[in-house]
Amino acid sequence: MRKFKNLNRAQVKKLASGLAKKYSGKDVVIGLVGELGAGKTTFTKDFGSFLGIKKIKSPTFIIGSTYPLKNQTLYHYDFYRLSDSKQLRPLGFEEIFKSKNRIVLIEWVDKFPKIAQVCDLIINLKPSGKNLRHVTLETRNSK
Ligand SMILES: Nc1ncnc2c1ncn2[C@@H]1O[C@H](COP(=O)(O)OP(=O)(O)OP(=O)(O)O)[C@@H](O)[C@H]1O
Ligand SMILES: [Mg+2]
Repeated sequence: MRKFKNLNRAQVKKLASGLAKKYSGKDVVIGLVGELGAGKTTFTKDFGSFLGIKKIKSPTFIIGSTYPLKNQTLYHYDFYRLSDSKQLRPLGFEEIFKSKNRIVLIEWVDKFPKIAQVCDLIINLKPSGKNLRHVTLETRNSK
C-alpha cells in the first residue's frame, strides 16, 4: 500500500498522470473510493487526459462511458446510482474484464465488493483540507 498525504490539486494530477503512463498499453481495472466530492472523477479526468482523452464526461447520470484510444479502450463507470448488483449485468463486465487492451476505472466500486475484489488497484481519496487529499494506492494481482 502506498500512502500520500495532503496532496494538492497539481500533485493529484501528477499522480494520476504517472499511473496513466504506467498502465498505458496494459490491462488494468482501477477502483476509485471516497466520499462525494473526494475527487474520483477529477482523478479519472487527469488519468484520461494523459492518454489524450480531452473530455471525460462526469458519469454521475450515465453510469458508464467508453473511450476508444489508439491501441486501447478506456471504460469509465460510476456505481453511485446503482443499488442492486443485478443492475451490473447489462454493463457487460464479464466481457470487458475478459477483453484485452482495456483500462477500466470505476467510481464508488466499494458499493459492489465482488467487483472491488477483481480490481488490480484501489485508489482511495480522502479530503484532508479545502484543496488537499490523502491518497492511498492498494495494488492487487501484482499490477
Ligand atoms: N487535491 C485535490 N485533488 C482532487 N480534487 C480536488 C483537490 N482539491 C480540490 N479538488 C476539487 O474537488 C472536487 C472533486 O470533485 P469530483 O467530482 O472529482 O469528486 P467525486 O469523488 O467524483 O465525487 P462524486 O462522488 O460526486 O462522483 C473538484 O471540484 C476538484 O477540483
Ligand atoms: Mg464522480
